[in-house]
Amino acid sequence: MFRFAAVLFALAALSCAQTKDGASAPVTGLPAEVDDRALPCAVTDVLDKKCRTCHERKPAFGAPMALVTRDDLLAPLPSDPTKRAIDGVLARVHGALKPMPPAPLELLSDAENAALQSWAAATPEGACKTQLVDAPSPVSGSLDCTPDLTIAPATPYEMPATTTNQYVCYRVDVDSAEPRQVIGMEPLPDNHSILHHVLLFRVDDEAEAAKVSTTPARCDAMRSTFWTFMYGWGPGTGPMKLPPNVGINQPTKAHYVVQLHYNNAQHVGGQRDATGFKFCTTNQLRPFEADVLAFGTEEIRVPAKGTYSVSCDWTIPDTAADGIHILAMNPHMHGGGTAIETSFLRQTGETTFDEPKTLAKIDPWNYQDQQWGPVSEVLHPGDVVRHRCAYKNDTSRTVNFGENTEDEMCFGFTLYYPRIKAAYWNWAYPSLQSICTTGR
Ligand code: HEC
Repeated sequence: MFRFAAVLFALAALSCAQTKDGASAPVTGLPAEVDDRALPCAVTDVLDKKCRTCHERKPAFGAPMALVTRDDLLAPLPSDPTKRAIDGVLARVHGALKPMPPAPLELLSDAENAALQSWAAATPEGACKTQLVDAPSPVSGSLDCTPDLTIAPATPYEMPATTTNQYVCYRVDVDSAEPRQVIGMEPLPDNHSILHHVLLFRVDDEAEAAKVSTTPARCDAMRSTFWTFMYGWGPGTGPMKLPPNVGINQPTKAHYVVQLHYNNAQHVGGQRDATGFKFCTTNQLRPFEADVLAFGTEEIRVPAKGTYSVSCDWTIPDTAADGIHILAMNPHMHGGGTAIETSFLRQTGETTFDEPKTLAKIDPWNYQDQQWGPVSEVLHPGDVVRHRCAYKNDTSRTVNFGENTEDEMCFGFTLYYPRIKAAYWNWAYPSLQSICTTGR
């Protein structure tokens, strides 16, 4: 069965260097230690390993607060100041709803949970001395294959200080003697201050590929409907390793396109980025080809100061006779979304179906936290996929479908196999063929 490859963060290398008498062992080759955590090592260890990629001193990836010092844990919880941060921590590391750390990262072990719980009861001071870092290390992956191909821009992109949102694309051409397959992909996110999300495509049409330059340049996000979708990165997304019977085809003359969405809300100058990917490829071709499709719709019209919901059904066509074997899903909306869910209704007879079963659900929706989560389900022709999105619009203009952050989307990106090969097929097809009902 498919699983996300384990994500290892460089921060895991930061461990307590406490000796028996409480003095700290020297940490060589690193900047001076700072001893302002005042936490026992049992607590520091858990936070370092599982939380501080995001809840660092300067919180990153949309995390609302730091989880570094004892004071941080005793400070009011941002979402409910009548509680302490540690109370929120205990609720979220246990909760079935939006657990921390977010999927697909590994949840806390029982021992790690126990360490946080026993500390919360008495909140003792500690003297764990560890290295503090101000910025999160980029996700440093561990694919258990050896990457043999790097996808990177010819030159870094520099984000204009005056622009808030920018879509940028670059192309990388790869020539190989024989057809190969990509079997593992690892995002290499570079500048976390401006990087919002990244999409990776393969473009088979030469003329279409030639429209994208090898140096990063502004591009139209919706152009990508003509491309083959391979993977998407958002804060926290780790490497993707395909199961042993599945690969993504790489023709002998392959054109990869990386599409980056930058957001420079603070209008900081001089921000450069060279985000790319590392691949593991093989010439031992695997029997099934993986692909990404999108359930959902473009039928979005959220009235000013109002709410809107849209529920779209797509019946799996006979072209998918081998079944749609789902490996992972990534629900996608923008900032006005309130909830998103993809479910399916198994066909039991000519006109009869089982009750809807959830494939992926994020309620409440959180724009800052967009993940690929593992899903294991096979859909067959006749089954119905139901994709529902709900929105709230606080502005005084109608919000429609579109690529800008101020516009909205309603997609359920889905990694599946085997790739559907009908001539009309593209990744957006299921979303464009859906039959939708709308409401408030
Ligand atoms: C990949 C990034 C990431 C990691 C790792 C992570 N968080 Fe978070 N955390 C977030 C984001 C983004 C939010 C805000 C959205 C939300 O509440 O889901 C958040 C919110 C929270 C909140 C809610 C704060 C509030 O105001 O209610 C708590 C509590 C929390 N995280 C605890 C933890 C703990 C404990 C860990 C480690 C065991 C952890 N997080 C790991 C990204 C992360």
